[in-house]
Amino acid sequence: ASKKLFLLPGDGIGPEAMGEVKKLIAAMNQKFASGFEIDEGLVGGSAYDAHGQAISEDDMAKALAADAVLFGAVGGPKWDAVPYEVRPEAGLLRLRKDLELFANLRPAICYPALAASSSLKQEVVEGLDILIVRELTGGVYFGEPKEIIDLGNGQKRGIDTQVYDTFEIERISGVAFELARTRRNHVTSMEKRNVMKSGVLWNEVVTATHKAKYADVKLDHMLADAGGMQLVRWPKQFDVIVTDNLFGDMLSDIAAMLTGSIGMLPSASLGAPDAKTGKRKALYEPVHGSAPDIAGQGIANPIAMLASFGMCLRYSFGMVEEAARLDAAIAAVLDSGLRTRDIMSDGMTEVGTVAMGDAIIAR
Ligand code: NAI
Ligand code: MG
Repeated sequence: ASKKLFLLPGDGIGPEAMGEVKKLIAAMNQKFASGFEIDEGLVGGSAYDAHGQAISEDDMAKALAADAVLFGAVGGPKWDAVPYEVRPEAGLLRLRKDLELFANLRPAICYPALAASSSLKQEVVEGLDILIVRELTGGVYFGEPKEIIDLGNGQKRGIDTQVYDTFEIERISGVAFELARTRRNHVTSMEKRNVMKSGVLWNEVVTATHKAKYADVKLDHMLADAGGMQLVRWPKQFDVIVTDNLFGDMLSDIAAMLTGSIGMLPSASLGAPDAKTGKRKALYEPVHGSAPDIAGQGIANPIAMLASFGMCLRYSFGMVEEAARLDAAIAAVLDSGLRTRDIMSDGMTEVGTVAMGDAIIAR
């Protein structure tokens, strides 16, 4: 089977972090004949500088043809004044739209070595391993009408519309149930059916999808506000959480902070399975941005980007064992006391991007 990866390092620390993934891929190809083919393009400000677009048609075509896209980060003060349509973020939005990436996966894992430095009590986060599945292409961020209207009496009205159709809820919950089967077989669906019609439908469709195809998975429902509380109180009660675009945006940011630095957090975005091959389009990226404040200094934490590649191994190529070995290597290097500056604490050894990447790859 082909393993075509399309790399879009982007701006700021994006290329620095991606450099460590490139080394890992080269090592896997050499040592284990993993057979990855890589091609690379431009996105964000660097693409704008090269040809005036946040991503070129040529690179879009390559992204669509690849088995998986690895994305670094885009943006930075250099491009703050470029026209809205070609701003760096437009490249990422275009990718999400054209690859139809409707499912955003954000794991919150607490590496044992970092449990003590979490903002929560050690016992609350130690051993934490949950996955938030956020609907990414629907809901209130996209629903129409979406406008500000002038009421004419010195008042204006801002309107956003939460819209979900059955098929959107079916496909996102299907992803959540399928992922749960590879984990601890438990899904918690979160909405606000007590005050939102879209929440009533969400609850109905998740329940029906469960009954029809995934009755072997344990399903719970929770109101999304209560879910936020439970995430902070006792996150280990969850395995997979499935929720809409808005709640997912907030709940995944809350979950992120359970585990420490933004430099540690990977993500995956998945599309519908291809009609012929059954393979899902997919894009893997760290949660962090281009970090202009530390770009070019060689101190960025490469773990979020490396762990994003780990998700790629797992979800795009079924390389579950290799993904687990990568996670174990990251945990072992943290256990050995190496830290980039963002996760540095007393008694540990501070290293830069390249040394951290080298240590993980060597493991
Ligand atoms: P950011 O995630 O780039 O940085 C926030 C803070 O975390 C900074 O202090 C940064 O130094 C630190 N940080 C982030 N990643 C790190 C890493 N791997 N290692 C060590 N420290 C790390 O978010 P910010 O500052 O809000 O945005 C900066 C630029 O990135 C903006 O232009 C923004 O639009 C863009 N951005 C792009 C995203 C993407 O490409 N998906 C996502 C978020 C922001
Ligand atoms: Mg957010």
